[in-house]
Amino acid sequence: MSLAALALAQALVSLTPTMENTRLLRELVPEAPPGVELTGAAPFGEVPAPWALLPDTVRRRAVTLSDGYYTRLDIHRIASYGTLPLFLLEYLAGQKLLEEGSGAPLWAEKVHKPAAYLVAGLFTVNTVTGLWNLAEAQKVESGKTRRWVHSIMMLAADVGFIYGASKAPSTQQIDDRIESGTRGGWTPHKATTVASMGVATAALVMMYLWKDE
Ligand code: HEM
Ligand code: HEM
Repeated sequence: MSLAALALAQALVSLTPTMENTRLLRELVPEAPPGVELTGAAPFGEVPAPWALLPDTVRRRAVTLSDGYYTRLDIHRIASYGTLPLFLLEYLAGQKLLEEGSGAPLWAEKVHKPAAYLVAGLFTVNTVTGLWNLAEAQKVESGKTRRWVHSIMMLAADVGFIYGASKAPSTQQIDDRIESGTRGGWTPHKATTVASMGVATAALVMMYLWKDE
């Protein structure tokens, strides 16, 4: 083989798409205009659109999400960091109130209600950003089940928290309960909020364990 033929063969081999090339292509290839079918080859005699030349996996990734999507995802993630510490605080304070009623330490009283409002605020923010992103990501096939499972569990937790808070007892009721010989244990408020915290924790942890693409 002559040197020229060798150089040609070498050039052709290095032109085949590599992982790196495909990744770069994804950034270079323009997004398909709305309404354009991304699969399917171009009809005979027509020049295919650049994205139609890409392999399937790359074409699927060419579906883009807005900048807003990622901003909302950041807000969603940052808000989520507050969840578990607040749950713990809420439980410890609630348990003290349940066991001691009006005799409970001041910190428990000072913590339980504000922490409840913080949990409510956090869940409101994440319900709005989450549902918004769930709707926008409908066009993305990968990770759909993961997003839906997470969202449905969180919506169930939302309902549980609202119902649980509506069952919150008064200090007087707790004092009466202690008076009649029941200290600690379970109340409808505790049962519903603990169940909701459990569902929400599972829905949170699954996002870290289940990373499908
Ligand atoms: C009804 C309420 C909620 C809905 C509809 C919802 C929906 C979503 C959606 C669609 C995603 C995007 C997944 C992705 O693009 O990869 C997501 C991610 C996530 N959500 Fe939620 N969510 C809700 C509530 C919550 C709450 C209350 C928390 C925290 C306790 C939370 C924690 C997370 C985390 C940690 C992620 C992963 C973020 C990442 O991968 O960067 N979500 N959620
Ligand atoms: C995220 C979960 C929870 C939320 C959102 C929540 C919310 C609330 C709210 C809004 C009140 C009424 C406060 C007031 O009117 O002063 C309350 C009271 C109370 N909660 Fe919770 N709670 C939660 C978890 C718990 C848990 C796990 C327990 C028990 C272990 C508990 C025990 C109590 C008790 C005993 C009271 C009566 C407080 C008093 O003496 O005034 N809570 N809760």
